[in-house]
Amino acid sequence: MIPIRFIAVGVGPGDPDLITVKALKVIEKADLVLTPVPGVGRASVADAIIRAHLEIETIPVVFPMIRDEKARDDRLREQLENLRPRWEGAESVALPVIGDSALYATAAYLYDVWKALLPSIQLELVPGVSAHSLAGARAGRFLALGATIFSVVPGTARPDAIVEALRHCDSAALYKPSALKDLRAAVESAGPWSEVLRVDRGGLPDERVVRGDAALSAPDEYLSTLLLRR
Ligand SMILES: C[S@@+](CC[C@H](N)C(=O)[O-])C[C@H]1O[C@@H](n2cnc3c(N)ncnc32)[C@H](O)[C@@H]1O
Repeated sequence: MIPIRFIAVGVGPGDPDLITVKALKVIEKADLVLTPVPGVGRASVADAIIRAHLEIETIPVVFPMIRDEKARDDRLREQLENLRPRWEGAESVALPVIGDSALYATAAYLYDVWKALLPSIQLELVPGVSAHSLAGARAGRFLALGATIFSVVPGTARPDAIVEALRHCDSAALYKPSALKDLRAAVESAGPWSEVLRVDRGGLPDERVVRGDAALSAPDEYLSTLLLRR
């Protein structure tokens, strides 16, 4: 039997014009397309991006936003079991994910659970435009040049590890800033910074760019990226 190809496809951060031609071709050709949603009946940014270009059937898979890894994986496994009649016999299954497919992409959790159920499954990654690239474009500046060190730091890491990582770079993108309890204290203790800028819901119709000190007031928004520069 031909092994299933599980293809995690980066579709860019939100603006449908930032999806690649390759991503569209792969999604269009896949036997099955699953789209990640944060909860039952909730909207999927990745799904909206591909719907701007393609008329295809997509099946939502709930990726619960919880820190309990076992509960998350149990939920994913249960959905895969329910969907078994749809994927058994398929040659390719695409999962469009926001941004790039290899950077903090939830596709990794689904792949691991699927691999445990079906060891022959094969992983493929299609790269996409990451949120920090979009944020750099919104800032109207280059992210890094020459010997400058650019770091990508997740707001879900330990606060002391975040401060340590920020201290050692010239320029940084902080993902998920809403996950960091005291964003301002962490950023300021690793400062000084000549530029602080936050992009919320970048590329979406309600995009918001917040510059300077106001960017450090904790955002409620999950789709938010903070850019820092010395
Ligand atoms: C699970 S990570 C996915 C990252 C994604 N794979 C990438 O390459 O951009 C989700 C985080 O990406 C960032 N992000 C993704 N899309 C964004 C957008 N449209 N605007 C601002 N930040 C975004 C936010 O920091 C968000 O919390």
